[in-house]
Amino acid sequence: MADITINGLTFEPYITREQIAEQIQRVATEIKRDCKSENPLFLCVLNGAFVFAADLLRAVDLPLSEITFIRFKSYEGTTSTGVVREIMGLHEDITDREIIIIEDIVDTGITAKQLRAMLMEHKPKSVKMATLLYKPESLKTGEVPEYVGFAIPSRFILGYGLDLDGAARGLDEIYVLKEK
Ligand code: IMP
Ligand code: MG
Repeated sequence: MADITINGLTFEPYITREQIAEQIQRVATEIKRDCKSENPLFLCVLNGAFVFAADLLRAVDLPLSEITFIRFKSYEGTTSTGVVREIMGLHEDITDREIIIIEDIVDTGITAKQLRAMLMEHKPKSVKMATLLYKPESLKTGEVPEYVGFAIPSRFILGYGLDLDGAARGLDEIYVLKEK
């Protein structure tokens, strides 16, 4: 893997496809072990989580599980704006259902907090969060995710669904912004 430049910023290889696959398998096993119902509803937070969600859903391998999508936006460039906007809402009835939120990354935890509060209004049976990446040092809320692929330092990353102003989501591996 070589460095790549996107919008004038240079990124270096950080997490390989093999490492990602390995951690997804582990997280899927944990989810399956904890699942009380046979038809949990996975809630994929767009845009970033779509790549992880596709791999995780198949790795969990519960034939009756369902998936739906919601869209939030908080980042401009490489920093969080601190304001989370809901762009596409939830249409399913989640009352009494086991919900597993799928996130690409938990950074400040502001998205996670807002989303959980919104879901709780509809009285689901339970709400848990699976995130591929988690930056514990950036957390500003009490939103510790139940399932974590990788806990990483607070550096800007992209690829495998994660973007820089919309670019780079299709990269098969995860890259980190090079320190100058
Ligand atoms: P939070 O609300 O601050 O936890 O941020 C959640 C959202 O910010 C994530 O779902 C991502 O879309 C975005 N985000 C946070 N850190 C990064 C990063 O390092 N690269 C790309 N997007 C990020
Ligand atoms: Mg996101």
